[in-house]
Amino acid sequence: MPENNTFTRKQFIGTAGAALGGSLLTGPVFSKTNAKSGKKNRNDKMRVAVVGMGVRGVAMYGRDLVRHYADHVEIVGICDTNPGRLEYASEFVGAGCPIFTRLDEMLEKTSPDRLVVTTWDWEHHSCVIMGLEHGVDVVCEKPLTIDEEKCQMIIDADKKYPNNVYVTFNYRYPPHRARIKELLMDGAIGDIRSVDFHWNIHHGHQVAYMQRWHGESQRGGTLWVHKNTHHFDMLNWFLDSDPVEVYAHDALEIFGSNGPFRSTNCRRCPHSDKCSYHWDINANEHLRRMYADNEHYDGYIRDNCVFRHNIDSHDKHSALIKYANNAFVNYSLTSDTDHSGYWIAFNGTKGRIEGREGGWPSSREHQEWVYQPLGKDPEIIRVPFTSGGHWGGDPILMDKLFKDPDMPDPLHQSAGTRDGVMSVLTGVAARKSARLGRPVKIEGLTSLKPHAKRPEGLV
Ligand SMILES: NC(=O)c1ccc[n+]([C@@H]2O[C@H](COP(=O)([O-])OP(=O)(O)OC[C@H]3O[C@@H](n4cnc5c(N)ncnc54)[C@H](O)[C@@H]3O)[C@@H](O)[C@H]2O)c1
Repeated sequence: MPENNTFTRKQFIGTAGAALGGSLLTGPVFSKTNAKSGKKNRNDKMRVAVVGMGVRGVAMYGRDLVRHYADHVEIVGICDTNPGRLEYASEFVGAGCPIFTRLDEMLEKTSPDRLVVTTWDWEHHSCVIMGLEHGVDVVCEKPLTIDEEKCQMIIDADKKYPNNVYVTFNYRYPPHRARIKELLMDGAIGDIRSVDFHWNIHHGHQVAYMQRWHGESQRGGTLWVHKNTHHFDMLNWFLDSDPVEVYAHDALEIFGSNGPFRSTNCRRCPHSDKCSYHWDINANEHLRRMYADNEHYDGYIRDNCVFRHNIDSHDKHSALIKYANNAFVNYSLTSDTDHSGYWIAFNGTKGRIEGREGGWPSSREHQEWVYQPLGKDPEIIRVPFTSGGHWGGDPILMDKLFKDPDMPDPLHQSAGTRDGVMSVLTGVAARKSARLGRPVKIEGLTSLKPHAKRPEGLV
């Protein structure tokens, strides 16, 4: 089956009157005719509009689409609320398309088939909903949103409108993770009883978060949501089950008010010679032109002080997650370390699979997994690394979204609203649990109920 039933059901609604039976099995996934405007695509290319022209928007969904997907995609519009950044994005992306500072105007004037949302996390929900209201399929960057109220707004809109929402969980796509998913689906270790999953973020990565809106919970939802949504989605996907309860601790030990001194931002800092986090944005022409040159429009400072008092995101996280299939997960994210990477181990009724990525003296050509069937000798599984961002996952995701949307999906790598919501809710429950000092249940946060086996559709 090419896609999950949610998609199939929505395609039925969205393309009513067409030769449905055949097109569902063999036809293109995206509608060649825009659902609302009825406008046909020129050259049968997918008409794509992008909102949010920061580093992610201009590169992966801007220049990459122009350079590598021109036979399949026409970028019909780009949008950003910052007019200076938008001008620069237009030059950088090179699509030669109209530019907009308002999303509603872009949707009305360009009638895209797909809207890519790469705005700030706390703006995702309004863009997703506006896309659906305009009869457009929406491709939303992770996290789908930052809290349970906005999750519910997206769930309600997804139920109301026929078009589809795709969440870009690129961490599902690297071939070495796909191989493990395949083994788990084949029952290689039986039922999963528990998982150990521990991730480290190195200094540079963490600083880039703390300098920006990611350090402020009202905007990024804390790293429990902004970053860990990737990890929680990996768990939900590997386990094929929903989380039911989270008990967590977190701490902010290094950044924010913990700092020994502070200033407004790095460019104006009197402590630059003694600050190990000092960073010169002007040394990077791309980032200077995108952010520093345009901060007078909206006050978005890219090199904020990592010791500013309003940082309330954390740099240490630990959680116990109970799943509806009764699996227990021990999870942690420790930031600002010398190490970048993770360790994961699945303990099943018929064996164990264990792997480690980054910071370990292993091959640069392949990922090694240790597969140990119960009572037998361990076996090493080597999966070659592929090129491209996020361990080779990004190009496969991009092909699926823009080149061959009808690509078979036997490992269920394509993600929609339910997947996006469930991973956000794990982070929301962890955030609440750490604050309240008690376990928090997933059920009741939104209308979605946890299921032992993840269902299709918004139930
Ligand atoms: N999947 C991944 O691995 C991955 C990697 C990087 C970023 N991301 C995601 O991509 C998104 C963008 O990240 P970024 O680093 O480019 O952020 P950024 O802050 O650099 O850029 C966001 C841009 O969106 C614009 N914007 C915000 N709200 C808007 C709105 N309502 N309408 C129009 N424009 C709006 C801002 O002006 C800014 O230019 C984030 O959600 C982030 O989580 C995902």
